[in-house]
Amino acid sequence: MGASSLRQSLLLRLALLLFLAEHGVLGRNYSRDDFPSDFVFGAGTSAYQYEGAVDEDGRKASIWDTFTHEGRAPHKSNGDVASDGYHKYKEDVKLMSDMGLEAYKFSISWSRLLPDGRGVINSKGLNYYNNVVNEIFNQGIKLHVTLYHGDLPQVLQDEYGGWLNKRIVDDFKEYANVCFREFGDRVSQWITFAEPNIMAMAGYDRGFFAPGRCSYPFGPNRCAAGNSTTEPYIVAHNVLLTHARVVELYRNTYQDNQGGQIGMNIYSMWYYPLTSSLLDFVATKRALDFLIGWYLHPLIFGDYPEIMKKNAGGRLPSFTQEQLELVKGSFDFISLNHYTSSFVSDNSNNSQLSQRDYIADKFVEIRGLRNGTETKGLPTKLLTDPLGLLRMLEHIKENYENPSVYIEENGYGLGAADILADTDRINYLSVYIGSVLDAMRNGVKVKGYFVWSFVDLFEVLSGYNSCFGLYRVDFDDEERTRSPKLSAYWYSNFLKKNIEVIDFEGIAAGEKFF
Ligand SMILES: *[C@@H]1O[C@H](CO)[C@@H](O)[C@H](O)[C@H]1NC(C)=O
Ligand SMILES: *[C@@H]1O[C@H](CO)[C@@H](O)[C@H](O)[C@H]1NC(C)=O
Ligand SMILES: *[C@@H]1O[C@H](CO)[C@@H](O)[C@H](O)[C@H]1NC(C)=O
Ligand SMILES: *[C@@H]1O[C@H](CO)[C@@H](O)[C@H](O)[C@H]1NC(C)=O
Repeated sequence: MGASSLRQSLLLRLALLLFLAEHGVLGRNYSRDDFPSDFVFGAGTSAYQYEGAVDEDGRKASIWDTFTHEGRAPHKSNGDVASDGYHKYKEDVKLMSDMGLEAYKFSISWSRLLPDGRGVINSKGLNYYNNVVNEIFNQGIKLHVTLYHGDLPQVLQDEYGGWLNKRIVDDFKEYANVCFREFGDRVSQWITFAEPNIMAMAGYDRGFFAPGRCSYPFGPNRCAAGNSTTEPYIVAHNVLLTHARVVELYRNTYQDNQGGQIGMNIYSMWYYPLTSSLLDFVATKRALDFLIGWYLHPLIFGDYPEIMKKNAGGRLPSFTQEQLELVKGSFDFISLNHYTSSFVSDNSNNSQLSQRDYIADKFVEIRGLRNGTETKGLPTKLLTDPLGLLRMLEHIKENYENPSVYIEENGYGLGAADILADTDRINYLSVYIGSVLDAMRNGVKVKGYFVWSFVDLFEVLSGYNSCFGLYRVDFDDEERTRSPKLSAYWYSNFLKKNIEVIDFEGIAAGEKFF
């Protein structure tokens, strides 16, 4: 199909969609006006997945550069060029502004700003982030900035084992201090860590994310070194202590003048009991405690969930009284990533294993459910389950003292065959946003919603074989050309023209017309 006929067909589809949005009769309608005016709708990226330019202007390697160059990442791909955001941020901010995006989430690359992990600031890195921050800020778009999205400077991994060592606390604090001092006057929301629960599980238990450490039952073929029995817990503990110290720094030194807020991001997935048995019900609660309670419980109540202490025993580090008080309440908001749901069954027989790890300590089996069929392990294609998000938000409200929440990532991955007329993605986004509205009407304090991702980028799980972007990036083209998908028009219309979105069946029925 030529460019102009493609454009025509796109316009046609768009017109059809708008027609359906205005005249649909099924489902539930909502519009931007149903959300408070200070609620923000955004989209996001992260440094290693988006920027590229890994060797440019003084940036040094992070653990993700090492991991991908060793060929250990899925599909053997890497973020060397990625979406080339380092060179194209101006164009991208223009797209955000044209689209009517209200907020943008991105992360800072520690090894671009402080290439040696501490000490000398890289002036070109500082310039780059100042330019990015200014560009976004000047468009009136709110900045949600993540300090750490998985990309530890390799030098700190080599020097003392990175997150395994308490020395990380001071180094991270120094890095965070530079970020607050240099950019904080324009940042509304700081997020200390992105998905630290996945970071500890995937990086130190299973070993499929950087730095790729693991041991029995996952080694020795998968990882050269590691200890799945203990390291995930140690890493999470050091992350919590670091987080608390950085929040203390922000509150004591910057918050009053800069007026921003600070919080931590957590990956969430809703779990349903596989059967109606009491064992599966209890297993589901256990799985949630291990997945989100691991971080949420200390942040809200100052300590780990009881079940984690019981099951992990002495392998779970403990907080001193002083640390416990520092961790408790160290957030202004909770930032959640949420994509899908799974089923949980009891697997108490795991207690027979002689060597246990974070995953085995849950004594559960988690199954993705896809198209009505059970699949062992995590789903490889995302299951659309907006009720799962509603239940997750209500679970947090009921069990964690109703904190303010941002949905910082939610999105729909399509394979390399992703199409510009991405009606499946529109369907997914519209029903999940509908769930956010339902949750708010039920009293959950949701403050914002972000689509993952703004543009297609390097996906840590699937390389370039899975695209989540509102904008397509042509990865075969040196220019990394951007093209809006139908979902970009859809989101823009929702934000700017305040059209009604037809939730559930409305869009699904619409698909029949395409
Ligand atoms: C949705 O909005 C359309 C157009 O305003 C209206 O005709 C329809 O009845 C609404 N549907 C629902 C379920 O409210
Ligand atoms: C992991 O660490 C624990 C506690 O130090 C130790 O008992 C165990 O042998 C270690 N396992 C491996 C595989 O190194
Ligand atoms: C646990 O193990 C026992 C003995 O091997 C087996 O009979 C039982 O079915 C297992 N239970 C579950 C829930 O897998
Ligand atoms: C769902 O499962 C049915 C029966 O196995 C199959 O025919 C159909 O193609 C599947 N649909 C999708 C979208 O995978």
